[in-house]
Amino acid sequence: MSDLRRAIDAATARLTQAGVGSPYADAIALAAHAAGTDRSEIHRRLVLGAPVPAGFDDLIDARAARVPLQHLTGRAAFRRLELHVGPGVFVPRPETEILVDLALTVLAETSVAGESPVVVDLCTGSGAIALAVKDEAPSAEVHAVEVSLEAHAWAERNVTTTGLDVDLIHADAMAEVPELEHLRGLVDLVTCNPPYVPIDRVPIDPEVRDHDPDLALYGGSVDGLAIPLALADRAATLLRPGGVLLMEHADEQGESLPAALRARGWEQVTDHRDLTGRPRVVSAVQADCR
Ligand SMILES: C[S@@+](CC[C@H](N)C(=O)[O-])C[C@H]1O[C@@H](n2cnc3c(N)ncnc32)[C@H](O)[C@@H]1O
Repeated sequence: MSDLRRAIDAATARLTQAGVGSPYADAIALAAHAAGTDRSEIHRRLVLGAPVPAGFDDLIDARAARVPLQHLTGRAAFRRLELHVGPGVFVPRPETEILVDLALTVLAETSVAGESPVVVDLCTGSGAIALAVKDEAPSAEVHAVEVSLEAHAWAERNVTTTGLDVDLIHADAMAEVPELEHLRGLVDLVTCNPPYVPIDRVPIDPEVRDHDPDLALYGGSVDGLAIPLALADRAATLLRPGGVLLMEHADEQGESLPAALRARGWEQVTDHRDLTGRPRVVSAVQADCR
């Protein structure tokens, strides 16, 4: 057995013991990161035999201490993009990708030939949703708002490295955003993955609890909906009549958030499930008059 194979097996056992969800995949990803190569090359080296890359053991120590894999590699995959992430920014999740599918459908259904649809992403974090929308719907004019200076800096880096033309704004999306005032009542689509965790529901996974910023997690009330609903109110000031809000939510908010939006005057409120079948994103249409 090669040194690398032995090291991967030992790391997998160690990560399993530490409660890491995907120990073998993480060990391979960290070996690839330490070696400065990709996962398929590590699989090739496992067959052919190779030494253990320098720094691998330290990375496994950190992962066993439940530092997120993406903080160790510095990258998170989202749709077609590889985003820079690290301390101070929410790591984009695969379940959020459904929101981008829904956004692309809205844009395809509402786009008018020769016109650029206007999209605003509230709570952009790393810029994941805004950048993926711009990447996959290049004709859209995309604006993105983030309140945390640290997260905004990661988003700025991702705008630069992807080269995608997204207008990034550092502001509190629950208040009036001066940079967006010229778009009041004109926006076609608002996307938002807000903080929505109920304030007394501290996440169990150390990767989330200890490494995602509190500002990215907690929704400001016992039902977790105070901040999402305040953001929906701001979205209503931006959207044109017939414009669409897409907002991610927790599994258990699949009925309460749509009900609260209907009560606030939103129309055609529909909830959508993610790829695992769990309630994940609500869509709502701005009424003709409010
Ligand atoms: C759950 S994270 C989502 C990040 C990113 N959109 C994604 O899907 O990966 C929520 C983000 O909202 C930001 N945030 C929280 N309150 C905000 C506010 N009032 N205005 C703007 N951004 C806010 C947090 O800093 C965090 O980056």
